[in-house]
Amino acid sequence: MTGTRTSTGRQWRGLLAEYGDRLPISGATPHVTLREGGTPLIHSESLSMVTGCDVWLKFEGTNPTGSFKDRGMTVAISKAVEDGAEAVICASTGNTSASAAAYAAKAGLTCAVLIPKGKIALGKLAQALVHGAVVIQVDGNFDLALDMCRTLDEKYPVRLVNSINPDRIAGQKTAAFEVCDFLGRAPDVHVMPVGNAGNITAYWAGYREYHADGLIDSLPVMRGFQAAGAAPIVRGAVVTAPSTIATAIRIGNPASWSSATAAAEESDGSIRAVTDRQILQAYGRVAREGVFCEMASAASVAGLLALSEAGELPAGASVVCVLTGHGLKETDWAIMGAAPPPVIPPDVDIAAELMGLSR
Ligand code: F0G
Repeated sequence: MTGTRTSTGRQWRGLLAEYGDRLPISGATPHVTLREGGTPLIHSESLSMVTGCDVWLKFEGTNPTGSFKDRGMTVAISKAVEDGAEAVICASTGNTSASAAAYAAKAGLTCAVLIPKGKIALGKLAQALVHGAVVIQVDGNFDLALDMCRTLDEKYPVRLVNSINPDRIAGQKTAAFEVCDFLGRAPDVHVMPVGNAGNITAYWAGYREYHADGLIDSLPVMRGFQAAGAAPIVRGAVVTAPSTIATAIRIGNPASWSSATAAAEESDGSIRAVTDRQILQAYGRVAREGVFCEMASAASVAGLLALSEAGELPAGASVVCVLTGHGLKETDWAIMGAAPPPVIPPDVDIAAELMGLSR
């Protein structure tokens, strides 16, 4: 036994192997991978019925660290290793730090993460800690933490792995490739949450690349959604004190602002806001379809429903809604939103009664 086995070819190999020819890597680039990507596109019968469209959920929560960030991180960390970096840093509302910590651990790099104090989901904090990152809480919001990271990147020998690093965007565009490869075409409408705006930039780049190469004949209309209390792009002004229950997108000054606006404009789409109440309702709705996404992810479904109510979805359109992260990262809303489960003595008849069973 050597401990190595030849692949049966049945397992998804990770993005560097699956889409390497479309990524900024060469034969000399080491593959730092946790077999990310290959996430399911789940058909939603219930959302298709209410909207009169054909609705698909791209569930990014099944990535190795539970969010879409792994797509960009496999590229960014592989390139960092290739270039001889010894340490990586990022600012994060939680998912980027979880992903950076995991991929840095895989590569044997030092990782430091700057997070807004008390404002990231516990599961994400646990991930950064367990993978051995240096976790620093900043007494301020994400935008301030990102400014600090930019300065650290200028002054110290570290590699910044936020989405202003183009390797992150390059990796994340593979999600658009997967959507098209699965559907055999581009969707008519693409709906997603927007925070720091890297992901909408990446999807649009991915769709355009496939279109330019003749792999798809049309491009989707891009519909991005911010949380109403953290909607700088919608307002056209920086939000200095962003506030939303969707902590992952609690961002007041997105780094990829202009490319997000360009994606919306070039595709005849839009970037709009959904309220926390709409997000919460959408979160519960997809959960009752068996898909547990995090609160920020539900902004896409909230947006889909808002577009549908406003009559802005063409009948029969194929729609992809991105669910960016896994609900297990932040369970407090799921638990708070439900009645506490009753406690009973070990008696089957009482259990049967609570289940509504009769003999
Ligand atoms: N959904 C989730 C679950 C996220 O974690 C993020 C961003 C977004 C949506 C928005 O994506 O920033 O590319 O527009 N999270 C970053 C982080 C900011 O630090 O984890 P975006």
